[in-house]
Amino acid sequence: MAQRIRVSAPHGEDYDIVIERGILADAERLVNEFGLGGTVAIITSETILDLYARPLAQSLPNAKVFAMADGEQHKNLATFTMLQRQLAEHRCDRKTTVVALGGGVVGDTAGFVAATYMRGVRLVQVPTTLLSMVDSSVGGKVAVDIPEGKNLVGAFKQPAAVLIDPTVLATLPPVEYRCGMAEALKHGLLADVTLLEPRLHAPDQIEAFLERAIRVKVDVVEQDPFEQGLRQTLNLGHTFGHALEQVSQYAWKHGEAVAVGLVAAARLSSRLNLLDEQTATQIEDLLAETGLPTHFHQYEPEALWQAMHTDKKWQSGHSRFILLEGMNRAVVHEDIPKEEVIAVLASMRRDE
Ligand SMILES: NC(=O)c1ccc[n+]([C@@H]2O[C@H](COP(=O)([O-])OP(=O)(O)OC[C@H]3O[C@@H](n4cnc5c(N)ncnc54)[C@H](O)[C@@H]3O)[C@@H](O)[C@H]2O)c1
Ligand SMILES: [Zn+2]
Repeated sequence: MAQRIRVSAPHGEDYDIVIERGILADAERLVNEFGLGGTVAIITSETILDLYARPLAQSLPNAKVFAMADGEQHKNLATFTMLQRQLAEHRCDRKTTVVALGGGVVGDTAGFVAATYMRGVRLVQVPTTLLSMVDSSVGGKVAVDIPEGKNLVGAFKQPAAVLIDPTVLATLPPVEYRCGMAEALKHGLLADVTLLEPRLHAPDQIEAFLERAIRVKVDVVEQDPFEQGLRQTLNLGHTFGHALEQVSQYAWKHGEAVAVGLVAAARLSSRLNLLDEQTATQIEDLLAETGLPTHFHQYEPEALWQAMHTDKKWQSGHSRFILLEGMNRAVVHEDIPKEEVIAVLASMRRDE
C-alpha cells in the first residue's frame, strides 16, 4: 500500500515523502503532482543511468540527465564543480528542478548542487538504495567530502519532495541492501521495536517497513532540524562504526561497520549495567540473522580506541557514546572509561 509522510521543516519548507511502487513510471503524476513538467536536471550516477535515469528522462517533457561517477571518492568538490558547470552550459535557470536519482552519494552531491546553483533551485530526492530511502534523503543535510574529512562542505537543503519507488530495490546488490538494513534496524532500536520483527522484513511488507523506518528519522529531524542535540542519537553505533571504517581504510562498508557498532553499543551498555544482557544478545542475534557482521578480525582494540579518540564529536578529548538504557531508550553518555571500551572491543574480536 502506498504511504505518504508529511515532514514539517523550518521556514515553512514542509514536504511529502511518498512511498509507492511504480511512482517513477507514472509520468502524469510526476508532472502534475510533483512539478516535473518544467526544466528538470536529473543528476545520477553511471550505474543508475541506463537502469532508471534515461527511462525517467524520456517520460518527462523537458528533462536532461547528468551523470557523476559512482562511489564515495567522487562525492567531492571536483564532481560538484563539474555538475554546476554542466547545468550552466545547458542553460538551467532558477526555475530548474534538480532530481537527485541514486544512492546517498548522488543525493548528497546533487543536493548540494541544488542548494547552491543560482543560490538554490528546487530539489526532488529520488533515493534508490535502502540506505538513502531510510536515512540520507530525509532531513535536509547535503554535503561533499574534502581530503580533510567526510561531509565537511555542505548545507541544509530541504527537498520539495522525496519520491520512493521500492521496485528499484530489485536491482540493488544484496550487500547494499544489508547496509540499509543496518540503519533501518538502528531506527528500530532507537524508537520503533516493530522494525525489528522479521515479519516486517518480508518483501511484500517493504512499503510498511520503509514507512516506519523513515518515520523514526522524521520524528527526530522535526524536533532537531539543525542537529543541536536529539539528532545525535541517530549516531547510535556510529562511533564504533566510524572507527572500524577508519582503521580498515574504508575497506569496511558503512552499513556493515554500523552493524558491528550497534553490537558494541549494546555490549557496552550491558557492561555498564544500563541494558540487560538478554536484550544485548537479542540485538546481536537479530543483526546476524540479517546477514550483517557482528564482530571483526585483525584490528587491535587499542587502534580502534585511538581512531575514536580523533572523532570530532568527542569534545576536548572526552569520550562520548550513544548507549541504550533499554529498548528505544538511547542516551548520550560522556567520559566512559577507556578500559570498559577496550574490554568490549576485545570481546568482539575473533581470531581468523
Ligand atoms: N545526508 C545525510 O543525512 C546522510 C545520511 C546517511 C548517509 N549519507 C551519505 O550517504 C552515502 C552512502 O549512500 P549509499 O549507501 O546509498 O551508497 P551509494 O550512493 O554509494 O550507493 C551504493 C551503490 O549502489 C548503487 N545503486 C544505487 N541504487 C541502486 C539500484 N537501485 N540498483 C542497483 N544499484 C544501485 C550505486 O550506484 C552504488 O554503487 C554516504 O556518502 C553517506 O555519507 C548521508
Ligand atoms: Zn550511518
